[in-house]
Amino acid sequence: MFAQAVVLGLLPSFARYALALNVPASFENTAVVRQVDLGGTLSSATTTYTFRALADGAQEYVVTLSKDEGDKTSWFVPKLKGSDVELPAAQGFDAADQVYYYKIALPTPLKRDETETLNVATLFSHASTPWPPTAAQKDPVRLNFEADMLLISPYETLSQRTKIRTPTPNVGAFSDPSPPSIYAKDAQATKSGSTVTYGPFASVPPSLSDEFRKEHQRRISVKYETSSAVASIISLHRAAEISHWGANLNIQDDIHLKNGGPTLKGHFSRVEHQHTTYYTQQAPPSTLWWMTLQLPPGIHSPYFIDQNGNVSTSRFRPSPSVPQDQSPFLNPKALDGLKPGTRASKFSTLEIRPRYPVVGGWNYTFRLGWDAPLNDWASYDRKSGKHIVAVPFLNTFKDVAVNDAELKIILPEGAIDVEVFPPFPVDSVEHSTHVTFLDTVGRPAVTLKKRQVTDKHDGIVYVSYAVPFSAHLKKPLAVSVATVGLFIFAFVARRIDPRIHTTAASK
Ligand SMILES: *[C@@H]1O[C@H](CO)[C@@H](O)[C@H](O)[C@H]1NC(C)=O
Ligand SMILES: *[C@@H]1O[C@H](CO)[C@@H](O)[C@H](O)[C@H]1NC(C)=O
Repeated sequence: MFAQAVVLGLLPSFARYALALNVPASFENTAVVRQVDLGGTLSSATTTYTFRALADGAQEYVVTLSKDEGDKTSWFVPKLKGSDVELPAAQGFDAADQVYYYKIALPTPLKRDETETLNVATLFSHASTPWPPTAAQKDPVRLNFEADMLLISPYETLSQRTKIRTPTPNVGAFSDPSPPSIYAKDAQATKSGSTVTYGPFASVPPSLSDEFRKEHQRRISVKYETSSAVASIISLHRAAEISHWGANLNIQDDIHLKNGGPTLKGHFSRVEHQHTTYYTQQAPPSTLWWMTLQLPPGIHSPYFIDQNGNVSTSRFRPSPSVPQDQSPFLNPKALDGLKPGTRASKFSTLEIRPRYPVVGGWNYTFRLGWDAPLNDWASYDRKSGKHIVAVPFLNTFKDVAVNDAELKIILPEGAIDVEVFPPFPVDSVEHSTHVTFLDTVGRPAVTLKKRQVTDKHDGIVYVSYAVPFSAHLKKPLAVSVATVGLFIFAFVARRIDPRIHTTAASK
């Protein structure tokens, strides 16, 4: 009883203690520089941490993000300066300090006073909001970016600064919090061309605590103009159907697109829209018009439909299939020695144009689909007797945030031992059964869901499964049963039909 009471009594404080991020002071940041490139629904940032080891053997460097920043971070890739290898990072959220942390394992331990430089590439979803929230059709599209002024770290930082670059030189306004930070060396906020710089800030102590945040952290805002429409994908639900019978991989996407720019004030004028597009040969940034999708090579029969049916205004430029031994999907080795981005030249492109110009605040829901030879995506492992199929998690518009993504992989009937290998952690994986025409027992399906994704999440999901010999027979069996049934029906019908006919005729 006593022991239990003690345990119960101590639990909350233990729990709090266990949660508080306890980072050993093994490093000192000599310089932290962040470069933010503002966009529409996605903005990117590269943060360079140059640090010095304070003791021998330091190998775990911890990057922290404030809650607000972490909530918006949808992509986080740490690499050593000059290296192409992504470093492993254990991610977590510390409830006591309200910070996200990434414990990054350096490839080799540092000796005391040795320095190293880490580049962290991140993408932020919806870090900017329309400003003002409504605008007329011919108005420029303006957004407001907000963030914390100081980069927080568990280590002391000798010097840090943040540079924010806007997509056009039209920076409306930027904030310069008052009173200025005690860490600011000279001017706290400056603007040069399309870049606003905060800092440098010198000798910032470890900054994870609530006390530090309350006393020293400030919100900053940069208002800017975009040159293209602010596309936003509310949801992208993909169904990928594998058919050995038809040697086909069918992909179908249901997409809910929204113009995330300022909501249109007043009525939409088609005349004004046509006038602008005619003279400038492009849609104004207030309107979502032509959009380009990069799709894999080797695909065929694309379609694009909305609630009113087939949308004929689309252009498809196919790219031929890549031989299996060179396929980046089936043979990751084929990518070795290729520079990043090489894949892009091997893409089919689909240009789509919505049925109507999608202005600020408007939605457009549509369905896109295409087929691919299964041979381009599937291989068979004789040793394990399993099929392995590569399925792209998504293909989406460049630089557009996707709030809710789903991939449902529908396997051949009778598939067993289903295993799925996503290229990044997903929020959920669910197994179910999908019943279609001519199926006897339904097909196994796996559904992967992930919130807050980006165009960088176009990685390959590998699914492996076995199809027992009896299951292989089921489909032909179902088809033959159906055929025999039809034959018997026709036979009987023919037998019956004349009689009805004769009876009718004899009347
Ligand atoms: C739908 O539109 C495409 C052009 O994008 C056309 O090739 C196809 O024949 C159309 N399909 C139907 C059923 O109208
Ligand atoms: C667009 O879709 C969102 C989400 O479903 C909805 O809340 C909003 O009302 C829609 N906007 C319009 C103009 O229909």
